[in-house]
Amino acid sequence: MKERILITGNNGELGSKTLKKLLSIGKSVIALDINDPKEKIHSVKYIKDTITNKQLINSIFNDYHISEVYHFAALLSQSASQNPELAFEINEKSSKNLIDCVYNFGIRNNCITRFFFPSSIAVYGPRKIKNASEQDIIKPTTIYGNNKLIIEQYGSKLHEKSISKKIGLDFRSIRFPGVISYDTVPSGGTTDYAPQMINCAKKGEKFECKLSPKTKLPFIGIDQTISSIIDLMNLEIIESKFRVFNVQEASFSVKELSDFLSKKFPSFQIAYNEDKNFQSVADTWPSSLNCKKANKFWNFTTEKDFEVFLEKIINK
Ligand code: SER
Repeated sequence: MKERILITGNNGELGSKTLKKLLSIGKSVIALDINDPKEKIHSVKYIKDTITNKQLINSIFNDYHISEVYHFAALLSQSASQNPELAFEINEKSSKNLIDCVYNFGIRNNCITRFFFPSSIAVYGPRKIKNASEQDIIKPTTIYGNNKLIIEQYGSKLHEKSISKKIGLDFRSIRFPGVISYDTVPSGGTTDYAPQMINCAKKGEKFECKLSPKTKLPFIGIDQTISSIIDLMNLEIIESKFRVFNVQEASFSVKELSDFLSKKFPSFQIAYNEDKNFQSVADTWPSSLNCKKANKFWNFTTEKDFEVFLEKIINK
């Protein structure tokens, strides 16, 4: 059977870029998304279906030799709060099922399959902390944060069961801060205000901000996001029971971002219309992350100066 990598949520920001990166290094990919692909690439086997379809997921593992899984299909934080039942089905139940399939596949075929799970700063809480380390206080207050934490723990548990026999699942996860792309404008997340604001400033449009000016959050650019995923997945062994890593490139407040954009784009205007659904979430997420562990394992480097970071994103 031919080896394939499975990517779920290939239409999303992370899924689409990871897919392209994997193709560029010669991998064969099966891509599962609830929608038709935004861009069809000839060599990719696309499946249009929901991640909640258990039968389908089982059949993928019967029909193909899945060598790695990148599981991006999810509802983001604000969408999850608006639809908690669906968030449970997609973010939690379906993720557990996929992890079980990978584990059972490994047992059946006497192999260990690497599984990438994008976790989030949403697992932190209930109070905002600075320079959060992976093992700092983790009591998420949101549905989304809880979904992510449960999957971090579930994946780590099955990893533990697998690793001594080297059969089953090799679970690897990154807790992402806000991700900023230069060519897509995401929605459905709490940190999405930043790419949305940058997009408005570039177009000379006014931006209505749902967070207060002093709200500070960590961010990473899409290039470092994708290279972190690939670097983490390419590590031969990760000598750590704790399977989750923090990454960030810069951390800045809403006002710091808007001041930066006003200097660059003098016609840019911002209006504040605080929304408690957004503010109450952002107030429980860390203002910055400690990335020492990522630095140790794959030499992840953080861009400390937020203006240098933003400059790079805007000029891309
Ligand atoms: N960027 C995500 C969100 O805001 C956090 O993981 O929902």
